[in-house]
Amino acid sequence: MQRDIQNIVILTGAGVSAESGVATFRGPDGLWEGHRVEDVATPEAFARDPDLVQKFYDARRAKLRTVEPNAAHQALAKLDAHWPGDLLLVTQNVDDLHDRAGSKRLLHMHGELNSAWCLACDERSRFDGVMADDPACPHCQQTGHLRPDIVWFGEMPYQMERIELALAQCDLFVSIGTSGAVYPAAGFVQSARHYGVQTLEMNLDPSEGSFHFHESRMGRAGDLVPDWVAEILQDI
Ligand code: OAD
Repeated sequence: MQRDIQNIVILTGAGVSAESGVATFRGPDGLWEGHRVEDVATPEAFARDPDLVQKFYDARRAKLRTVEPNAAHQALAKLDAHWPGDLLLVTQNVDDLHDRAGSKRLLHMHGELNSAWCLACDERSRFDGVMADDPACPHCQQTGHLRPDIVWFGEMPYQMERIELALAQCDLFVSIGTSGAVYPAAGFVQSARHYGVQTLEMNLDPSEGSFHFHESRMGRAGDLVPDWVAEILQDI
């Protein structure tokens, strides 16, 4: 499969960060456990109870300081550094573990915990503090207008046109550690198939769209991804 591949699009989900100790969303220990999505991850929830929503994301942002990239993040960063063709790593994750591992050709389609969006000046700024304390916007200095720069349910993920173009122009689409439960990311495999692209899934168990993939490898991302990266790099 590798020989004809020039351009690659990779999609990652919470499973890629699970071995770093970041909770996934679904399943018994999932992040939504104890929280209803509609209480913490919608614009309506933020309008109704901003303090609850800010504290939920403040806790997740604080948790980032206690975790490190794992072998899967590191292997993907190595692939990015060495792959001569186009490569786009699209992550649904709002953690910064791909960034810290060194991935450069990276797009956070669901936003980032370490980014603040000011609803007064509409600017986004790097942010690693506590939003529930109502800090001033680093850009316009007004207080009381920052929200987590996270794509909530009912909002449009970032850079969809760029992702669609990359899918149309790639030769291989790889999905890692995502349950395939949330669109539009869950539909990328179908777009890739529509464009005649080879597709590979790596996940702990079959995702909801598993049957769309040409090949599925089941196991832990920290084992599967370094093996796959070694495989694909040996052919360049
Ligand atoms: P999920 O929690 O839905 O799925 C995580 C997937 O990773 C599951 O299929 C697990 O089996 C798998 N998994 C767990 N541990 C793994 C490991 N060590 N190695 C490989 N796979 C493993 O998370 P996502 O699919 O990322 O959106 O969820 C998608 C979106 O739903 C999130 O981005 C978030 C959420 O609502 C927003 O917040 C907008």
